Formats: sequence, C-alpha cells, structure tokens
Amino acid sequence: MRRSMEMSIYEIWNEVDLYMNDKLIQPDPILDEVLKANQEAELPAIDVSPSQGKFLHLLASLKGAKRILEIGTLGGYSTIWLARALPKDGQLITLELSAQHAEVARANLKRAGVSHLVEVIVGPGLNTLAVLKDKGTDPFDLIFIDADKPNNPNYLKWALELSKRGSLIICDNVVRQGHVVNSESEDENVKGIRQFMNALAQEKRISATAIQTVGSKGYDGFIVGVVE
Ligand code: SAH
Ligand code: DHB
Ligand code: MG
Repeated sequence: MRRSMEMSIYEIWNEVDLYMNDKLIQPDPILDEVLKANQEAELPAIDVSPSQGKFLHLLASLKGAKRILEIGTLGGYSTIWLARALPKDGQLITLELSAQHAEVARANLKRAGVSHLVEVIVGPGLNTLAVLKDKGTDPFDLIFIDADKPNNPNYLKWALELSKRGSLIICDNVVRQGHVVNSESEDENVKGIRQFMNALAQEKRISATAIQTVGSKGYDGFIVGVVE
C-alpha cells in the first residue's frame, strides 16, 4: 500500500477494490464499452461495481440458475454479469421504469451477445410483476432487487410470490454508507431499506444474511437470502 497515512479510508477501499479486480477479473472490453455507453447516454453511474457484478455472476453460477428476474435494469451492467451465468436455454427478465434506460440497456445487451437470453420490460416494476404473475410465469431461481428503494418491501413480497424453495433473493444497497441504522432518517430510500429489513426479519420463509461491501461504491451491501 502506498502513502497509507495520507489516504482516507474511502481511498484505501477504492484502491483495494481496484487491486482485487485486477487480480480476479479478466480485462473486459465489452463491459468497458457498456459503461462508456451509459456515460454517453448520461445514465447515473449507479451500476453495481465490477466486484459486485462478479459476485452476482458467481451466485447465479453456484445456483445453476436457469431463470433470473432483475428489478431495475439501468444500462444492463448487472444484467450482463447475471446473463453470462445462464445456460443456453436460460432466461433473464429485467424490469425498468425508464424507456430511455431500457433502450440503452438493449443496445448494451446486444454488444455483450446476450440479447437472446434477456427480455427487458419497460414500466413500473410493480405493474409488470403483476402482469408476469397473471401470465403464470414460471418461478425464478434468482431474483435481484435493485430499483426504487421505497418499493423494496413490495418487491420482497413479489419475490416470494415468483420464487420457489431454494430460490435466491438478493437486494442491493442495503447499507447505504451506514445510513441503514439511522431510525430517524427522513431519506425515502433509507426508509424503504429499513422497511424491507423489518419485513425480512418477520419473514420465516427466507433465510438471509447481509454481505457488506466496501470499495468503489463506498460502504454498501447486498442481502442474500434463500427461500426455504
Ligand atoms: N441493476 C443496475 C442498476 C439499477 S439502478 C446495475 O447494477 O447495473 C435502478 C434502476 O431502477 C434505474 O434505471 C431506474 O430507472 C429504475 N427504476 C426506478 N423506479 C423503478 C420502478 N418503479 N420500476 C422499475 N424500475 C425502476
Ligand atoms: C442508488 C441506487 C442504486 O441502485 C445504487 O446501487 C446506488 C445508488 C441511488 O439511487 O442513489
Ligand atoms: Mg443498486
């Protein structure tokens, strides 16, 4: 480590994240292009980090997931990490409110050669989830919740509705730089996460843990749960 005494804890986390990515993640010109396309389209840079994307990919692989549901597509960065873990006959459905984000994502999925595995559905996630249920969609093996945080408690209910025993339910941004423990927070995102955590605490059908992460996105984390 260089100049540790002069580095803030955030800089150290970021440098270690870069170091680990350099050791553990192959150079990936396609994902570089995806992030560039997102930037050019002025999408917010709130994609999962590379190490978090790789973690999602490993979870999907370990699970042998054939059907994945993602709530919150943005430019499809996490979608690509997840879709790359699917078998040839796998399917990923990803839900996005913004038609513009979805358009950028579709181009990125094409770039990554995973379009044939992924369906991007535009609209408010809660509406689309109800439509999927009505259509009798098969249960998903892995569900990644990463959209509007105030709806997290609702997304948790839907995740249970659309999963089966052994399915993984993952939720992003549950730490939010530590704000999750602020019971007085007026931030709607923090309130949504806390309501999600309270619902999870009461939910006997899910066994879960928090994977807290530090790195390029500061201090944040995933909930990873298994449906029992
Ligand atoms: N999973 C992405 C990041 C998603 S960012 C990645 O890691 O690469 C959150 C996304 O959720 C944004 O694109 C936002 O437009 C979308 N979103 C916000 N409200 C939504 C809603 N009600 N339904 C579906 N998507 C929503
Ligand atoms: C925000 C949303 C995310 O999904 C994320 O990973 C980081 C930040 C946000 O809305 O601020
Ligand atoms: Mg997120």
